[in-house]
Amino acid sequence: MTQDELKKAVARAAVAHVVEGEIVGVGTGSTANCFIDELALIRHRIRGAVASSEATRRRLEEHGITVFDLNDVDQIPLYVDGADEINEAMQMIKGGGGALTREKIVAAVSRKFVCIVDRSKLVPVLGRFPLPVEVIPMALGHVQRELACLGGIPLLRTGFVTDNGNLIVDLHGLQIVDAVGLETRINQIVGIVTSGLFACRPADVCLLGTATGVQTLTAV
Ligand code: A5P
Repeated sequence: MTQDELKKAVARAAVAHVVEGEIVGVGTGSTANCFIDELALIRHRIRGAVASSEATRRRLEEHGITVFDLNDVDQIPLYVDGADEINEAMQMIKGGGGALTREKIVAAVSRKFVCIVDRSKLVPVLGRFPLPVEVIPMALGHVQRELACLGGIPLLRTGFVTDNGNLIVDLHGLQIVDAVGLETRINQIVGIVTSGLFACRPADVCLLGTATGVQTLTAV
C-alpha cells in the first residue's frame, strides 16, 4: 500500500466515528483532506462542519458541506485530524501545515479527538519532527531566545504567515520526554500564541494505517 492509500484508508475508517445529525470538527493537511472527501459522501447525514483552517474551510465548501463558525456552535462531538508525530500516550506534534492554533482550539471544544495517521507517524519519543510554535510577529526575537533556553534550535519558517496573521518558529532537535511539562512551559512564554504540542489534550483514539489494515489505538 502506498502512503496515499494508507491515508485514504484511515480517513474512511474515521467516518465510523461521525455522529449522525451533528457537527464534525475537521483538521488540516493531506490526511484531513482525505477525510473531507469521505465526509462529502455522507454530508446529508451531518449538520455541518467546523474548519481548523481557511484551506479546510474552502475544501469543505467545495464539497457542499456547510461550514459553521465555531462561535455559533455549542458542542462538537467529534474532531478528526492528522498529526506529524504521535506517541503511545496519544500525544502529538502538529502544525507542519501551520494550522496548529485553530486545530488546538477546535480540538479543545470537541468531545472526542480521532487522529488519523499512517504508520510512519507513530514514534516512541516526540521531537524528531520540529515542533511548530505560532508567534506574534513583534515578539519573534524574544520568543526565539526563550525557546533556545529549552534546548532546541528555533528556526523561523521563512515566507509563511498563518491564517491568524502570525509567524511560525520550528523548534528543532528536541527529545520530548515530558510532553505535558514542555507544553505547559512553552505556554508561559509571552508572545507565543500556541505550540503544536498536543499533550495536555491528547487524541482519544488513533486510527493507524498499516500494510495489514487500520489499527485502532488508545492511550497506554
Ligand atoms: C496542519 O497544521 C498539521 O497539524 C497537520 O495535521 C499535520 O501536519 C499532518 O499533515 P499531513 O496529514 O499532511 O501529514
